[in-house]
Amino acid sequence: MNPNVQRSLILIKPDGVQRGHIGDIIGRFERAGLKLVAIKMVHPAVEDVDKHYALTEEWMLAVYEKAKAKHDAEGKPFPHVDHVSYGTAIKNGLMDFLVSAPIIAMVWEGEGVVSIVRKLVGATEPASAVPGTIRGDLSHDNYALANAQNRPLRNLIHASGTNDEAEQEITVWFTDVELQKYEHVNDRVQYDPSWFLPKA
Ligand code: PPS
Repeated sequence: MNPNVQRSLILIKPDGVQRGHIGDIIGRFERAGLKLVAIKMVHPAVEDVDKHYALTEEWMLAVYEKAKAKHDAEGKPFPHVDHVSYGTAIKNGLMDFLVSAPIIAMVWEGEGVVSIVRKLVGATEPASAVPGTIRGDLSHDNYALANAQNRPLRNLIHASGTNDEAEQEITVWFTDVELQKYEHVNDRVQYDPSWFLPKA
């Protein structure tokens, strides 16, 4: 129906599972017309999380710049001097967080799914995420508190940032046979150009 369909890898982190938000989060993606093609509850191993968060220069810079910009905007001091030590500390915290308890791993499909999901998920910092988004509605954690407590943000969910990232992340959590192929009503109603034409 849609030859350019894309995929996104979503993780509901331990805080999302333990606060009972699995159904709400899945419901938001369903309501947006996206298609679930893989789902499982998994208690991650260190190796899984290590592969998922690749400690690249780009990743460390993005994590550092985003957190620093938020502190600057609020006139708060940002005591971390370089992206490598900050990024490494964040990754280590995320490793401890994700291996601590079960998570939900999912793959969703749809036209432009990566950006649609990011829009629904909201900003990295729940306190800045706008109402209507998953993080904005269901959490209120902030950088300052998380950093003061030396822990990662409890922001409920991970969502792939790009199509390439999604394809790489999917291989960490799912094998090919776990990715289901089936026809969903949305494949027709949303993408079939003949669906609303007069029937013969
Ligand atoms: S995101 O989710 O892509 O908007 O987040 P991003 O800003 O790219 O951050 C990368 C991951 O780091 C997690 N994280 C933190 N970043 C900065 N400072 C603190 N204190 C922090 N704690 C956690 C952030 O949630 C991203 O992880 P994922 O799993 O992608 O959400």
